[in-house]
Amino acid sequence: MNLHKASHRHAQNGAARCPNRSAALYAFLLVVAPAGSFAQRGGGGGGVPGAGANTPIASLKTAAPPAPAVDRYVKDPAALIALGKTLFWDMQAGSDGRTACATCHFHAGADHRIQNQISGPGATVNNVLSAQDFPFRLFSNTGNNRTTLVRDSRFAAGSMGVVERAFAGIETGAEVDRFAVTAFVSPFQANGIHTRQVTGRNSPSVINAVFNVRNFWDGRASRIFNGATPAGDADGTLNAWVYRNGSIEQEPVRIENASLASQAVGPVLNSVEMSWAGRDWPELGRKLLNLAPLGRQKVAADDSVLGGMANPEGNGLLPQFSYAAMIQAAFRAEYWSAPAPDSGPLQMERNFALFWGLAIQAYETTLAANDSRVDQFLEGRTDALSALEQQGLTEFRTGGSQCTTCHNGPELSAAGFTNFLRRNGVTNSDADAGFFRLGVTPADSDPGTFKTPGLRNVEFTGPYFHDGSQATLNQVLDFYGRNGDFPGGTALGNVRLGAGDRNAIVAFLRALSDDRVRYQRAPFDHPSLCVPNGHAETSPGQLALDGNQTGSVALDKWALVPETGRGGAGVPLQTFEELLNGVGNDGSRANTMNLACAP
Ligand code: HEC
Ligand code: HEC
Repeated sequence: MNLHKASHRHAQNGAARCPNRSAALYAFLLVVAPAGSFAQRGGGGGGVPGAGANTPIASLKTAAPPAPAVDRYVKDPAALIALGKTLFWDMQAGSDGRTACATCHFHAGADHRIQNQISGPGATVNNVLSAQDFPFRLFSNTGNNRTTLVRDSRFAAGSMGVVERAFAGIETGAEVDRFAVTAFVSPFQANGIHTRQVTGRNSPSVINAVFNVRNFWDGRASRIFNGATPAGDADGTLNAWVYRNGSIEQEPVRIENASLASQAVGPVLNSVEMSWAGRDWPELGRKLLNLAPLGRQKVAADDSVLGGMANPEGNGLLPQFSYAAMIQAAFRAEYWSAPAPDSGPLQMERNFALFWGLAIQAYETTLAANDSRVDQFLEGRTDALSALEQQGLTEFRTGGSQCTTCHNGPELSAAGFTNFLRRNGVTNSDADAGFFRLGVTPADSDPGTFKTPGLRNVEFTGPYFHDGSQATLNQVLDFYGRNGDFPGGTALGNVRLGAGDRNAIVAFLRALSDDRVRYQRAPFDHPSLCVPNGHAETSPGQLALDGNQTGSVALDKWALVPETGRGGAGVPLQTFEELLNGVGNDGSRANTMNLACAP
């Protein structure tokens, strides 16, 4: 179990620290499953859990998501984390050479940009969201979902990815992929000028995603990692290429409790998020293996993972830390040491999806924010919360709010591992509990149920809900107070919340922030990043053309997200609400999107 240390880093000083996995599970069952509690099962199938099914709220340090068994592939867990952090933040991974995973997950693990961030019915290209746009669905009486609608916007606040292009290969040593000039079909254009496409849903945070049994809003990133796609067991391809006794052959991959790996192999080939359409894994591998990792970004000399590898003079890492060297350090030789074939991809390129998924999963496993003041309070530090915040905790737990029907357990989510293991015990089967329809959108616009979010650091992860329709926590509480926007057929029905309750609960929600996230300290420190921040306009509504690009493509505006080291930034992160209102542009907040960047 040499991965134990790495994959339990999140459990830092918590009760979950333990010599091996079965002991972890055992200790964990003692914490959450006192005698008799298995008699109180229920809550499967996506409905409201039955009475008694709720797991008590506790410090997140008591949560112990099981470590995925990766020893077969992984040689050095620390090297795996370093590779994962580098891949996650590297802008060169995107087909445009400028889009990293972090591009949509740079701010408390999420994205609070406001320009060119909307998609769906009625979305205007390059729109700048303002405070007046929220909530997207506005009732004349915000406490009553039967009153007249003042506004009913049906677009979603998502995240901008790449311009629509058809992939046509890579050029060795170039960070921008080649593309074929084809007819554009995406709606992301105005007057024939094409903009970056925008996702249909809001970006959830990668921080604490390790506690989710299944990731994505609808849980489609399987708990089982198959080595190449998010689909788990539904994809039976033999995805790993193994070199043994002088010959190379394909073998299946099946790793349990590895939804983060299943998730991570999705966006990088997705033609909205990061890729020209039609790129494949060996091509992405070949491209990155020929580039200097983080070649256009700065890494802090005291970065908690990459500091010792950072290039103090220039960009990225020291020359000896190539992607090939990092893969060789992290993974067992059977998965990369085959001699180069006469033609076709190298073994290392063929296994690139496997490496990518496992490395990013290992990095994201370190992103555990389990030391908020609420966590400290629940560990017995009674002075950690103010009287109002304590009242909020009480209102959240009890009475008419119903919050803990769904936001329960140490993860504050019925979709977390604590609930999952408690419900399933040793059978460990996939159940659907923790996913609900609240009436955020009409049933026909985005059908299905949505994962209950864990709420830590929620102060910084606006806009809220899967469609990003609420800008503030007060607006979210108004939503619950009126039992949702589309009553009927939803999991909400009888929430009772007075104004005082709402204020107290909002204070409690703000106390769920971990200061290490607020100040971007280790393990939430990171390399620098240039993020696209909408497109330039020649006059209002007139997109400026990017003269350096083939085809009619809109000129990007860029904003710098500066690197931080172990000690973090001097000022706290800006909230979405603050960005909307221009609060913090004087330098009193971090990530205000007004620092210039030339990628
Ligand atoms: C263009 C923006 C964009 C990029 C780039 C992007 N993501 Fe995301 N990410 C999203 C959106 C939007 C969702 C929600 C999608 C859904 O649930 O349908 C999401 C969901 C996730 C989740 C699930 C969290 C949860 O609570 O369910 C994780 C983890 C994640 N992304 C990690 C990554 C990784 C790793 C990469 C790079 C391989 C990446 N993202 C690239 C926008 C992006
Ligand atoms: C029936 C289950 C259920 C109940 C009850 C419930 N929630 Fe939620 N909560 C969810 C789900 C599911 C989502 C995501 C919904 C979506 O986006 O469609 C959510 C989203 C949220 C969000 C937005 C988080 C984000 O990152 O976008 C907040 C804040 C929140 N809930 C707080 C509360 C509070 C406070 C209460 C009690 C007043 C409460 N919830 C009651 C299930 C529930």
